[in-house]
Amino acid sequence: MNSLRLRVYPDPVLRKETEPVVAFDDDLKDLVAEMIRLMNLHDGVGLAAPQAGVSSRLAVVFHDGMLHVLANPVLLSSEGEQDGEEGCLSFPGIFGNVQRPSKITIRHNDLDGVEHETSVEGFLARAFLHEMDHLNGRLLIDNFSPMRRAMARKKLLRSKEGEDADGGSSRR
Ligand code: NI
Repeated sequence: MNSLRLRVYPDPVLRKETEPVVAFDDDLKDLVAEMIRLMNLHDGVGLAAPQAGVSSRLAVVFHDGMLHVLANPVLLSSEGEQDGEEGCLSFPGIFGNVQRPSKITIRHNDLDGVEHETSVEGFLARAFLHEMDHLNGRLLIDNFSPMRRAMARKKLLRSKEGEDADGGSSRR
């Protein structure tokens, strides 16, 4: 596979409809390897396929020394709520509070096509939901309050004009 590049807002592929993963073959493994390379290169903790320019229902999350590959993830249930700051590799330098459920159960396929039901909470619940939003064309700033969204837009405009975006951790 040719090497892919990180797509940054407002790249239209970030809003494009995604297709289910149907072939659990070597091409899929190559794509996942390429997504992991991009995620590490840009110092992220998660990456969804549209961020690599591929409109597939596929995402990776790396946390606590474990790699999670989510193909065709579906939210089955959620409970509680948590508030926390989120960032995104497709929005360099942009961070803001996003409210999420504190615990979720999802169904997804792994790299071999085997179906799993997984319950996660806290950081992983937030990370999984962030990546699942990507698969539905929903982006970081869509989850901000209107005021925070306006501030983020201003900052994005400024950084486009050449100002350096500041760094940060926990970008997905
Ligand atoms: Ni993201």
